[in-house]
Amino acid sequence: MQHPLAVRITHWINAVAMTVMIASGWRIYNASPLFDFVFPAWLTLGNWLGGALAWHFAAMWLLAANFVVYCAYGWASGHIRRRLLPVQPREIWHDAALALRFRLPHDGTQYNAVQRLLYVLVGCGIGLAILSGLAIWKPVQLYPLSFVFGGYELARRVHFLAMAVIVGFIVLHLALVAIVPRTLRPMITGRTI
Ligand code: HEM
Repeated sequence: MQHPLAVRITHWINAVAMTVMIASGWRIYNASPLFDFVFPAWLTLGNWLGGALAWHFAAMWLLAANFVVYCAYGWASGHIRRRLLPVQPREIWHDAALALRFRLPHDGTQYNAVQRLLYVLVGCGIGLAILSGLAIWKPVQLYPLSFVFGGYELARRVHFLAMAVIVGFIVLHLALVAIVPRTLRPMITGRTI
């Protein structure tokens, strides 16, 4: 599969920005945990709350701007419509059943229905993470936004949920790349497999 340059650049910028956001976000969470657990310190970034916030706020602009560029390019060029849509339940069941039996062929010319579903889901997860993040960053100035999320406390939970969706995606995404490693080079060089 040939990946357009804009998709490759935004994909790798997103991977770097997302890693920084998650690792620093876990450190921020540890300073005031929502649930009965904390993240291991060695998986986090920033050393202390102030340092983690500095990393989180620095990377958030990169992540958000990059996401806007990917979405704008994706819609304007038809990339999202052609490559990521449609996401139809019947196709998803069919391809998921094959995938679970390790019988899903990777034809190299288009994403299968499970990949399309995962990519659309993670796109929604990133959008939700950005919006809920803005709501808890400026709950007074952006009051209408935190109101939509049901207030600061609920927005914090939504932000955590969006992170969990994204982390779940990354684990699965990396496992799939490890199972079919020949998909990696085209995402770097732009050449077909
Ligand atoms: C960290 C967060 C990441 C997210 C949110 C993410 C998301 C995505 C998305 C949405 C696509 C489809 C792009 C499109 O065609 O529009 C994609 C493709 C791909 N990603 Fe990632 N990615 C991440 C990290 C990574 C990493 C770390 C690797 C490699 C080690 C990787 C390897 C790939 C490959 C190889 C493809 C193409 C798959 C194929 O052709 O079947 N991704 N990724």
